[in-house]
Amino acid sequence: MKKKLYFSLAILIAFLIVIQLIPSKLPVNSVVQLPENIQVQNASNEVMTILKTSCFDCHSNQTDYRWYSHIVPVSWLIARDVSKGREALNFSEWNTYNKRKLVRKLEDIKEQITKKEMPMRIYTLIHPGTKLNEAQMLLITDWTDQETKKIMGQ
Ligand code: HEC
Repeated sequence: MKKKLYFSLAILIAFLIVIQLIPSKLPVNSVVQLPENIQVQNASNEVMTILKTSCFDCHSNQTDYRWYSHIVPVSWLIARDVSKGREALNFSEWNTYNKRKLVRKLEDIKEQITKKEMPMRIYTLIHPGTKLNEAQMLLITDWTDQETKKIMGQ
């Protein structure tokens, strides 16, 4: 019985080692390393801090990949979330969005925040301090409201 167990364990370990050879295609970061270099238009320092802490890992070209980000199969999940996240909303490209897109993204952000859909739950579980409290949520939705008004008024 014990022998069988060791054998299964050995197979599992061998399997985990072999799958490390499969590339995980983590999205590449931009060469500009400091998140400080991204300034979202008209976002206050408080808003920027929240975005950097809770959103930039998936919604900017400056993902802070941790050691486990490179281990298969975790890396596959992270690669998927980061590439889908960047595709849906990318603060590194915010300043290139046209007015219509900005208004739509601001609306999406407000919706995701109020519904507590973002940041993703799996992320806040692993990264303490990234879950938004009521005050932080309010800061973000105030910003999206004001920014939308500003853009619409232009
Ligand atoms: C762990 C990664 C991760 C984090 C952290 C994260 N997001 Fe996302 N976000 C995603 C992914 C993945 C999608 C795309 C979902 C899809 O395509 O179904 C997404 C989609 C979105 C969208 C678009 C929704 C839509 O309707 O298409 C918005 C807006 C958004 N996120 C806002 C935020 C904000 C604001 C934060 C920070 C407070 C945040 N996200 C944090 C992964 C993340």
